Amino acid sequence: MAQVAVGHVVPSAFLVFSLLFSSCFLASGVGADEVHEVFGRTLDPKLMGLKKEKLSHFRFYWHDIVSGKNPSSIEVIHSPIVNSSLLLGFGLVHMFDNRLTISGDINSKLVGRAQGFYAQADLDELALLMTQNFVFLEGKYNGSTITVLGRNSILNTVRELPIVGGSGAFRFARGYVQARTYNFDLNTLDATVEYNVYVLHYE
Ligand SMILES: *[C@@H]1O[C@H](CO)[C@@H](O)[C@H](O)[C@H]1NC(C)=O
Ligand SMILES: *[C@@H]1O[C@H](CO)[C@@H](O)[C@H](O)[C@H]1NC(C)=O
Repeated sequence: MAQVAVGHVVPSAFLVFSLLFSSCFLASGVGADEVHEVFGRTLDPKLMGLKKEKLSHFRFYWHDIVSGKNPSSIEVIHSPIVNSSLLLGFGLVHMFDNRLTISGDINSKLVGRAQGFYAQADLDELALLMTQNFVFLEGKYNGSTITVLGRNSILNTVRELPIVGGSGAFRFARGYVQARTYNFDLNTLDATVEYNVYVLHYE
């Protein structure tokens, strides 16, 4: 009988000890690396360096180069719909890695790149579905990204697209961008667009 009792006591003491031990880890906020068995928990934003959300404004120029020997924007899906009254057929998709420069001149200072795709997503007018990551190359923002996803009705003077997130200095980013056509060459179809970015972020 004594042997059976001991056999029960030892494992349950061990269990209680482990439970206590793991809740100590939780209470002291030990990093996720040490607490492999915890799936989700609440964190204090301040412990992650997230003190005050701030609003930043960036302005740069986006160059969609479709012509010449080195285009930065290429058609990857051709539209099966021919409609001469629309410049881009429904379903057309362009993949791009466009230069972002400080002024409207493509040879001015490079501040980042815009990588993504746009697709003609409106049957009746020119309106693109755009998905793009702005990859910044300047100073403290070097390597950080902002992700923009939205509708771009390119014939309107000002188009607004939402910022859906970011990385690096733009973790937890939210906000919007305003796009204005700066130059559109009807012969080459190359376009330069001014972007004003209004973004809430922490760094
Ligand atoms: C072409 O687009 C115009 C303008 O939206 C529209 O009125 C017309 O029906 C379209 N034609 C075809 C063949 O889709
Ligand atoms: C940005 O980061 C890359 C890679 O770390 C580095 O090669 C480059 O010199 C940096 N550019 C600036 C302007 O700091």
